[in-house]
Parts: sequence; structure tokens; C-alpha cells
Amino acid sequence: MRNCFYYWGFAAWLAYYINHPLYTPPSYGQKQVNFALIMCLTCEAGNFSIHIALSNLRKDSKGSKTCKIPYPTKNPFTWLFYFVSCPNYTYELGTWIGFTIMTQCVPVGLFTLLCFIQLTVWAKDKHYTYLREFKDYPSLRMSIIPFLL
Ligand SMILES: NC(=O)c1ccc[n+]([C@@H]2O[C@H](COP(=O)([O-])OP(=O)(O)OC[C@H]3O[C@@H](n4cnc5c(N)ncnc54)[C@H](OP(=O)(O)O)[C@@H]3O)[C@@H](O)[C@H]2O)c1
Repeated sequence: MRNCFYYWGFAAWLAYYINHPLYTPPSYGQKQVNFALIMCLTCEAGNFSIHIALSNLRKDSKGSKTCKIPYPTKNPFTWLFYFVSCPNYTYELGTWIGFTIMTQCVPVGLFTLLCFIQLTVWAKDKHYTYLREFKDYPSLRMSIIPFLL
């Protein structure tokens, strides 16, 4: 219920601003929209690739809940695993940054900021679980932002 209120509430609020008759287009017009759209779509493709990589971790043991260390694969989108524990969250953040650039709208920026905080809390939690469970966990990896966080 809480998640439904959060996401649907934000969806309605953001839609109100973006579709308002007085909405002003982004400063750099169509160029800015196109750039941001490419960013959003690239990050969505990245997120999808990470989910494929994660689902393959349990391919051989159907129904199992075992946690394994995910590694980069031949798909370049998964190479972010070299640097972070939760690249799907990194890509999710990239998508929302892209959407913020595209709409150039304060409420969208606020939603992106809240996403960043929430995703960082979860990514750190998962990162520390990996560190606790696996003694050989890759030391270069951060939680969500390469080399930073
Ligand atoms: N916009 C937002 O506010 C927001 C916030 C959170 C998430 N999201 C989106 O929702 C998506 C899913 O979120 P999530 O929190 O469920 O992601 P997640 O914790 O990375 O889990 C994704 C799937 O991969 C499996 N998995 C993860 N790590 C694994 C490992 N080490 N070994 C084996 N399986 C593993 C999980 O299984 P288990 O469940 O069994 O671990 C789950 O089925 C994210 O990629 C993101 O795009 C959006």
C-alpha cells in the first residue's frame, strides 16, 4: 500500500506539471529532449542486462534462493559490475537523471533525489551483505556510484 501511494502519488504529481498548459519546454529544446531520451533508453537497456545477468546466477538451481557474487559477462552493460555491487540501481538512477534533464522540472528532480537516497540505502545494505558473506569479494566495487559511494 505504501509503495502504491508513493509511486502513483508521484506519477500523478509529475504528470500534472509535465502536462500542464503552462509547462515550459527545456532550455535547449528538442536537442536536450533527444539527448536525455537516449540516456534514459541506454540506462533501461543496462538495467535489463543486469537483471538478465542476475537471473542467470540461479539458472542451474531453479527455485533456489542462494546468493552468489555476480560478475561482468560478455554484455558490455554488465561491465559496471567491475565497479559497483548494484549496477541495476546505478542504471535506475541514470534513467531518472535522464528524465529530469528531459523534463527540466523541479518535482521530477525531487523524485530523482528521493530515488537516489532510497537506492543508496538499499545498495549499501546489499554491498555490506556481500562483504560479510564472501571473503573473496572484489575489493574495487563500491555500492552504487563507481569509486565514490
Ligand atoms: N525507482 C525506485 O525507487 C526503485 C527502487 C528500487 C528498485 N527499483 C527498480 O526495481 C528493480 C528491482 O529491484 P530489487 O531491489 O528487487 O533489485 P535486486 O535486489 O537487485 O534483485 C533483482 C533480482 O535479482 C536477484 N538477485 C539479486 N542479487 C542476487 C544475487 N547475488 N544472487 C542471486 N540472485 C540475485 C533477486 O533475487 P532475491 O529477491 O531472491 O534476492 C531479484 O530476483 C531495480 O533494478 C530497479 O530498476 C526502483
